[in-house]
Amino acid sequence: MAKRRGKPPRIPQLGNHGLDDALHAYATDLSSTEPAGLAALRRSTWTQTVKPQMLCDELQGRLLASMSHMIAPTRVLELGTFTGYATACWAEGLTPEGTVDSVDVNDELHPIQDKHWAQLNVADRIRRHTGKAMDILDSGVLFDADPRPFDVVFVDADKEHQQAYVDWAIDHVRDGGWIVVDNVLWWGEVLRVQDGTSEDPYAVRIHELNAHMKGHPDLDNVLLPLRDGLHVARRRPRG
Ligand SMILES: C[S@@+](CC[C@H](N)C(=O)[O-])C[C@H]1O[C@@H](n2cnc3c(N)ncnc32)[C@H](O)[C@@H]1O
Repeated sequence: MAKRRGKPPRIPQLGNHGLDDALHAYATDLSSTEPAGLAALRRSTWTQTVKPQMLCDELQGRLLASMSHMIAPTRVLELGTFTGYATACWAEGLTPEGTVDSVDVNDELHPIQDKHWAQLNVADRIRRHTGKAMDILDSGVLFDADPRPFDVVFVDADKEHQQAYVDWAIDHVRDGGWIVVDNVLWWGEVLRVQDGTSEDPYAVRIHELNAHMKGHPDLDNVLLPLRDGLHVARRRPRG
């Protein structure tokens, strides 16, 4: 039987992974309203891109922005820029000299990013890198302008190399730095991998990644069942 690829349907009885749609809407309504500039970027994404569902939702965006304010990072790395929505959320809490390096293979999205990063006044805080994430990571270019390790690495590019990205991040975040990985529940399919009823290759890899992060001696982790799952891990101090 041919293996199913891509995003599987949600498991109906779980709704939004236990946070059902009504509660998700309640949590969104009772959280800070999405800033107007980001709402405009959301509209552009839905009207001008082929896969707008890749965009993070309002609640997750506010969570990333809150994390940025809590950490007050000087260096953030994002793998998977897309239209630059999460990039702008991470930019919200940067220190005055802070920057976000963001990597994406798709240069067709640059006009949307340029327009909205300018409107959001974050363009000068973002260093854009175009190419396959693994190539950019291996090239050393991320440390050309600034040799300091990252405070945060946000992994949200292709799902094939997530574990390699996380392992790279473990070596390149500062002591006590943060690694955040999106889409770690694969719309519930990881449960079927765990109980042996699914061999979906994406879900298998994601389940392996979650287990890898939980068992990694250099990480403390929490897997948040928000939307499609956000894995948040703190890099334990070296030595
Ligand atoms: C889920 S979207 C990122 C969403 C974005 N972080 C946000 O929250 O708005 C995934 C992005 O990864 C990019 N991508 C896919 N494969 C990649 C690769 N090998 N290297 C770099 N980027 C890749 C895609 O072009 C796409 O824009």
